[in-house]
Amino acid sequence: MTTTHFGFASVDEADKARAVRQVFDSVAPRYDVMNDLMSGGLHRVWKAYTVMVANLQEGNRVLDIAGGTGDLALAFSKKVGRSGLVVHTDINEAMLRTGRDRLLDHGVVLPTLVCDAERLPFPDGHFDLVSVAFGLRNMTHKDIALAEMQRVLKPGGRLLVLEFSRVAPPLRKIYDWYSFNVLPRLGKLVAGDDASYRYLAESIRMHPAQKELKAMLHSAGFGHVDFHNMTAGVAALHVGIKC
Ligand SMILES: C[S@@+](CC[C@H](N)C(=O)[O-])C[C@H]1O[C@@H](n2cnc3c(N)ncnc32)[C@H](O)[C@@H]1O
Repeated sequence: MTTTHFGFASVDEADKARAVRQVFDSVAPRYDVMNDLMSGGLHRVWKAYTVMVANLQEGNRVLDIAGGTGDLALAFSKKVGRSGLVVHTDINEAMLRTGRDRLLDHGVVLPTLVCDAERLPFPDGHFDLVSVAFGLRNMTHKDIALAEMQRVLKPGGRLLVLEFSRVAPPLRKIYDWYSFNVLPRLGKLVAGDDASYRYLAESIRMHPAQKELKAMLHSAGFGHVDFHNMTAGVAALHVGIKC
């Protein structure tokens, strides 16, 4: 039996995806409102910065992995225009349905696909940009997922990984207090689920820090990798270029 982590718990690798699915099945209906409450709206700023760094052009082909309720897919679709393509994907049907309904409310129809980042159903060298926002942390085999993202990019294409990261030392105490005391209570109050928000806090601590993730992108075949810290490292945007 090979084990991996699910938050601070150690679980059989085969069980992690199921446990992650239960988390997102549970939080999907209240996901957007919880994001705003937990981050005080900051996730919107982090995503806006990601869209700016993406610097998409009309006609570009984009794959949004773990796209959930569709924030990035929606913003990207406005940049690539009618001649471009944004494929909105996630492994979780409940998240994807919530996202698709939201996109429809904005008058945007995108190809929407349930798929596992570890087995992408796309040919090699197909996309100009691949994005994954707050999704990589939840994947069982991050190395395999990153290699898949590299595979489906065109040469010169870019991967953007937006994810929670390692906060600057002076803020750690207060950030830990907030994460382990406030988040689960907020989750209980708003989404009727404290366990999923405890998992969120734990999974952030188990996720590779900035430099470690940068090394993982290099190992996955990205020739040039850089990262941008946001809000003192609460989140970081990693950019990998397929050279
Ligand atoms: C925190 S949500 C992020 C949603 C959205 N990208 C955002 O930034 O608001 C994480 C998403 O990762 C998805 N996910 C987890 N494991 C995945 C995998 N192996 N392949 C694709 N998506 C996955 C979950 O289903 C969930 O929708």
